[in-house]
Amino acid sequence: MTSKNYKLLEVKLQKIADINYATALLHWDKETYMPKKAAALRSQQLSTLSELGHSLFTEKSTGILLNKLEKENLNETLEANVKRTKEDYDKMIKLPGSFVAESSMLSSKAFHAWIEARKKNDFKIFEDPLDKLISHKRKEADLLGFSDHPYDALLDLYEPGLTVSTLNRLFKNVREQLVPFVAELRSKKQIDTNFLFLKYPSDKQWNFGIDILKNIGYDFDAGRQDISEHPFTINFGSTDVRVTTRIDEYDFSNMTWSCIHEGGHALYEQGLPIDQYGLPCGSAASLSIHESQSRLWENMVGRGKNFWKFHYPKLQKIFPKNLSNISLDHFYKAINHIEPNYIRTEADELHYHFHVMIRYEIEKSIMEGLIKTSDLRDYWNARYKEYLNVDVPSDLEGILQDIHWSHGSFGYFPTYSLGSFYAAQFYEKAKADITNLEKQIESGNSSELLHWLRNNIHAHGRKYLPNELCKQVTGSELSLDPFMDYVKLKYSEIAI
Ligand code: CO
Repeated sequence: MTSKNYKLLEVKLQKIADINYATALLHWDKETYMPKKAAALRSQQLSTLSELGHSLFTEKSTGILLNKLEKENLNETLEANVKRTKEDYDKMIKLPGSFVAESSMLSSKAFHAWIEARKKNDFKIFEDPLDKLISHKRKEADLLGFSDHPYDALLDLYEPGLTVSTLNRLFKNVREQLVPFVAELRSKKQIDTNFLFLKYPSDKQWNFGIDILKNIGYDFDAGRQDISEHPFTINFGSTDVRVTTRIDEYDFSNMTWSCIHEGGHALYEQGLPIDQYGLPCGSAASLSIHESQSRLWENMVGRGKNFWKFHYPKLQKIFPKNLSNISLDHFYKAINHIEPNYIRTEADELHYHFHVMIRYEIEKSIMEGLIKTSDLRDYWNARYKEYLNVDVPSDLEGILQDIHWSHGSFGYFPTYSLGSFYAAQFYEKAKADITNLEKQIESGNSSELLHWLRNNIHAHGRKYLPNELCKQVTGSELSLDPFMDYVKLKYSEIAI
């Protein structure tokens, strides 16, 4: 049953979505085709539009409408839309306008200092603006409120319901199980991966990427792919979901798996119900659930042997000089080769979680006030030595590598690891539910898997909180076990 008040809310939220998606389209343009001279005005246009969306949403009338709607008798979807909107609204109005303006001023300064610090390869340049931003973040945690740990208030902004106590438990497991497992794999003979770094002409890579996207079910009538410096997925409703990629002619892996990764994000967005446009039930459940979709396609499917049983013969035909002498088995082992490195975005699917764990431990200590900003670099380098046994060669390849802190994004990183663990848990359930799933993938057909994801995950949007969704789909809460089972089985066949 829909009511007059509900209709008012729907119209308002959809209007805000129109503004937000127009803002997103300007962002997409900025990252792809915008001419250089447009930069200054573009920043102004973006900030005007996002302020407009924000102020429409935080109007008093929104709160009054939500309070009325909470007392009405609505169906499950409508009720979820009201509930999620009320949660967002309550969070947003806790931060006074002056505080939000200060946030944007501080992060803008920090961002410019980060760019400058990267140019000079010197963390010291970033240190002071970062320190101010950190104090501001601690104030933000106080304003938002928390019961156990100040970091909980920030985690909740990216992943509703996520807490330090959950993450402590999870990362303790990661340390206890993944550290010895990785050490054991590294003690074995390592495969030759040199052929992945021969010349792979960019036009051929591009065409291969498009083919893969089509093969996994990405709808080019509701999206497109372009080139950008950092690959990303962006959407303006589920009927226009765009992906970008980058191509390095001397690193075949770079384009291929970022293409499948972004493709996974895009399949999720294309699968959100269009009749819920602009409403919580038409939006992604959370950052972790989003990342679970990209990781599932990238790793469980796209780094699986069965996927390449179908695609590798085609790939050999496209690049005969590089690949005709490389067997499928060799190729499969090489694309799953693990090696510690100090750059997060270049990490393999096992070491990746050590990178996230380091950032998690640092952010948690920062929020507790345990580390001085001036000690962060030493702390960072020591953790890399401890967890990955690598000496960080420079700030650029160390503490300055990620953009997140310069944007004031504290609490974001853990969602990357959660995404992988959710992916393994979802994939385990999909394999149990779909007869011969691996056989289907071996014959180049992943449509039943996509259908399963659409029904079980995409169709719900934000109706459920991430942990509720996980329970509903898999029957249990998030656990590291399915991920460990998946990597143990996979690498027992790969390790020589
Ligand atoms: Co992603």
